[in-house]
Amino acid sequence: MPTLWSGRFGGDESNDLLRALGDSLEYDRRLYVEDIAGSRAHVRMLAGSDLITTEEMAAILQALDRVESEIEAGTFEFDSNDEDIHTAVERRVTELTPAGAKIHTGRSRNDQVAVDMRLFTRSAIDRITDLVHRLQGAMLWAAERSDSAVVPAYTHLQRAQPVTLGHYFLSHGWALQRDVERLADARHRANVSPLGAGAIAGTSLPIDVEATAAELGFDSVFENSIDAVGDRDFVAESLFCLALLGVHLSRIGEDIVLWSSSEFGYLTLDDRFSTGSSMMPQKKNPDVAELVRGKTGRLIGNLTGLLVALKGLPSGYNKDLQEDKEALFDSVDTISRIIPALAGTIDTATLNVDRMRDAALDPLLSATDLAEWLVKKGVPFRDAHGIVGALVQQSVSGDGDFVDLVRSSPYFGADAANIIGSMLRDSHGSGSPVNLDTQIERFRRTIGER
Ligand code: ARG
Repeated sequence: MPTLWSGRFGGDESNDLLRALGDSLEYDRRLYVEDIAGSRAHVRMLAGSDLITTEEMAAILQALDRVESEIEAGTFEFDSNDEDIHTAVERRVTELTPAGAKIHTGRSRNDQVAVDMRLFTRSAIDRITDLVHRLQGAMLWAAERSDSAVVPAYTHLQRAQPVTLGHYFLSHGWALQRDVERLADARHRANVSPLGAGAIAGTSLPIDVEATAAELGFDSVFENSIDAVGDRDFVAESLFCLALLGVHLSRIGEDIVLWSSSEFGYLTLDDRFSTGSSMMPQKKNPDVAELVRGKTGRLIGNLTGLLVALKGLPSGYNKDLQEDKEALFDSVDTISRIIPALAGTIDTATLNVDRMRDAALDPLLSATDLAEWLVKKGVPFRDAHGIVGALVQQSVSGDGDFVDLVRSSPYFGADAANIIGSMLRDSHGSGSPVNLDTQIERFRRTIGER
């Protein structure tokens, strides 16, 4: 079986070692939809530019339809010589029609693969954005159903100040909003057509790059053929978006792991989203949250791997660029699996609001409010901090109950003691109950606006 370049090579140049290393069909066959879409646009353009006849175009388009349905039906016979999806599709089209020999006119696999990857990236971003949006919906719903629940907010994983539970859930929702915006931004830079760049320097044939770009729904056309075939920024950028999204998901996962532990007891996971132990009958494990956390390592690894592959490359296409695929596919697949599982875990979890309230109403968590109460009376904050700190010190060393100490303190008294446990922090974006409805509304509008 001849290769796409047999003319240049003497005889049978097949080499199993090279093929085992270089063939990408095993993973790039999933690009068949994009590859065929790119070829359809290309052959229509070739006919429009009088580089092939209308009949040849029709024959090739028909063959492409057939190839697509064969692959979809699982009846497509991949050949042992099909190095990648581009080779396989062209080979089969040429078997189906002699006009197939013209499909690669004015095109190289270098611009072809860049088209496929950009189309894939674009639709992957759209699908993932929908998933993130769905997770934001889970956060919104959790905020709404948490009603008047309060929970300690933590710094250094030590109880800090009480906030509404809704404020907590929306904190993750806003972080996810930045992911949505970052993905939209990455999509914009991915959505540029490289088709027509050829192998590296364009072509002497009268092709129409605007026509193919328009048919494929690209926003614009490449400016420089060398850049067009050598650029994988859009992959690296998408991998970064997915890695950072993963980092956010991982932090949510870590909260779930902690909150569902007996020590916290804030959440009870639904049985469908937890697993048991093969040995310890009492166990109920937060596997989803743990896997979200664990798989984020791969997302970061895929980004790092591609950046390292890119850093030493000379300009233009180099085969190293083939390494973009497994990284992108793996990150897309990983994210696509973890988001729905995480959303389901949150949607179905029982919120143990009494337990959260008990923790949130620990009187010591009002220490800052008490200091600010003194500030309102004219005491410099640093002095106020010291006064309250001394009462905390007395209380934790067993010299009395904190509320009683406040009530009997010459600086405070009954009025001050009454603010303990109330939620006074109503400054902009803070977690007091009076702010929650507004925040929920703003968040709802923000994610609806997308
Ligand atoms: N399978 C190749 C890739 O993924 C397609 C481009 C091959 N180009 C070439 N000049 N060998 O990058």
